[in-house]
Amino acid sequence: MDNKDPTIRRILVINGKGGCGKTTIATNLAVTYANQQHQVALVDNDPQASSTYWAEQRSPDLKKIHLVPAHQRANMYQTQTFHNRLAPNIDRIIIDGHSNARDRDLEALIKQADVVLIPLLPSSIDIRAASRFITNLLTHRAFRNSPRPVGVIANRVQPNTQTHIKLEHFLGCLDIPAVATFRDSPVYIEAAELGQGVSDMLNSRAARKEAPAWRDLTRWIDEQSAPSARTVHDLRLRPRAAKRKVDEQTLRA
Ligand SMILES: Nc1ncnc2c1ncn2[C@@H]1O[C@H](COP(=O)(O)OP(=O)(O)OP(=O)(O)O)[C@@H](O)[C@H]1O
Ligand SMILES: [Mg+2]
Repeated sequence: MDNKDPTIRRILVINGKGGCGKTTIATNLAVTYANQQHQVALVDNDPQASSTYWAEQRSPDLKKIHLVPAHQRANMYQTQTFHNRLAPNIDRIIIDGHSNARDRDLEALIKQADVVLIPLLPSSIDIRAASRFITNLLTHRAFRNSPRPVGVIANRVQPNTQTHIKLEHFLGCLDIPAVATFRDSPVYIEAAELGQGVSDMLNSRAARKEAPAWRDLTRWIDEQSAPSARTVHDLRLRPRAAKRKVDEQTLRA
């Protein structure tokens, strides 16, 4: 894609509920951006290291995703900032958040993000937990001081079921937009095992069905107001400012 938006975007995928699809969304989003010729970093913040495992399965023949294992502590010869540093020219940073991020942890993650995505499963238990998490997020001091776009993602949806209707009702009552819907499909499990995303698997009919929703999600993210003066161009032209900005992007544990 020649006309890709070069402005850096940092995207946090988070929810206080385990198993809602954070890693699935983060890895598939990373792949979708990489296949749009973006330079993508996937930051694994989760001690379970699922994104790290996913990246280890990824074939070098596919578009590169730069993994940042932020859940690991730096060794005695490195600072955490150095350990978490990003490769040059990265313009999409996707952070796979973990379910236990509270208070300071949550604050650090919020501060690193330009856009927040909250995956949500269509079950009453998940909806209840998510509404609590959304309230915590929107009322968090770090968020109120510097609000940023938040989107909810309906994940593992089986269209036209009772649970789907319940989810639609919940999403309709929220103050924040529902920005994507992904089906409950075995193609996601298959993709995860291969270190791929559905955008890599276009020879699969199930993956082709899902791919447009991923492109729409990247479009929504890219349309959100861009943080000023953080383009790759800017980083290249002003090395001193660039250094400071790269430090800002560098993720603290
Ligand atoms: N749309 C989907 N269709 C089918 N399976 C899915 C889908 N999304 C996620 N899964 C499966 O659900 C399980 C949990 O997903 P995932 O690991 O992405 O959740 P998570 O929120 O990152 O979990 P954790 O809180 O443990 O980090 C995985 O086995 C994953 O393959
Ligand atoms: Mg995970």
